[in-house]
Amino acid sequence: MGKDILQGKRGIIFGALDEQSIAWHVAEHCVAEGAKITLTNAPVALRFGGLDKLGEKLNCEIIPADATSLEDLDNLFQKSMEVLGGKIDFILHSVAMSINVRKKKEYTDINYDWMHKTFDISAMSFHRVMQTAYKLDAMNEGGSVLALSFIAAQRVFPDYNEMAESKALLESFARSFGYHYAKKNKVRVNTVSQSPTMTTAGSGVKGFSDFYNYADAMSPLGNADAASCADFCVAMFSDYTRMVTMQNLYHDGGFSTMGMAPEVLG
Ligand SMILES: NC(=O)c1ccc[n+]([C@@H]2O[C@H](COP(=O)([O-])OP(=O)(O)OC[C@H]3O[C@@H](n4cnc5c(N)ncnc54)[C@H](O)[C@@H]3O)[C@@H](O)[C@H]2O)c1
Repeated sequence: MGKDILQGKRGIIFGALDEQSIAWHVAEHCVAEGAKITLTNAPVALRFGGLDKLGEKLNCEIIPADATSLEDLDNLFQKSMEVLGGKIDFILHSVAMSINVRKKKEYTDINYDWMHKTFDISAMSFHRVMQTAYKLDAMNEGGSVLALSFIAAQRVFPDYNEMAESKALLESFARSFGYHYAKKNKVRVNTVSQSPTMTTAGSGVKGFSDFYNYADAMSPLGNADAASCADFCVAMFSDYTRMVTMQNLYHDGGFSTMGMAPEVLG
């Protein structure tokens, strides 16, 4: 760590809410590697979370933006370029919310208004972020955009509810926008499919701690924690990965490739 592999780069980090948040760790690791960043979250999260503390610690500006508002996102990019002194090199989208999950609605008894909201916040926001940056020409050549996903996009995890479809949509946006952004100015777009992680969003899922332990036993390396996810994101933002794009990359200690683990049988 601390090799300055992001020296001279400017980034925007979405979704740090508290010290558990994956984005919190990513922000810390990016700054430790020499990057200058702005932090952003929904105005309501800024009132209840602890983002101020992170902003002070890393000496970086916090710019509120609801990821469903084009106006907020436009302002976020304009202000970030102003504060950081130039175009952006990397973006982390670490945003998700499902009212159906939060209210423990069963998958077979979904509230569709809430489902719209889930897709809007957790997936369409990713397209919105990229389209805003694209139209403003806010990314430097060779830039890197990442969003955080989960393997429920490919396999069935019954308690993950509509977030499964949300992640499938998110990953598809990475592929489709990745084409356009590569052609425009060699910007890379990928998703990182992360292990279950003890955070506010993660622990909202029914039976999360049992599932966490199951995944830990199934993965030969164990669950990847938020700090190791941050290391991987740093690598993906660096110039060492400049030919990787339109991929969903598993960061899961080997979970996705396992069929059966004797450890789980006890
Ligand atoms: N925790 C896990 O087990 C796990 C596993 C794989 C992927 N992920 C993904 O990682 C990402 C980050 O989640 P986390 O686990 O760090 O939890 P978290 O609760 O700390 O982060 C979710 C963030 O989304 C933000 N958010 C919600 N609505 C928003 C809006 N309208 N506009 C802007 N921001 C908004 C929240 O304020 C919060 O900061 C999510 O995409 C999540 O699905 C989490």
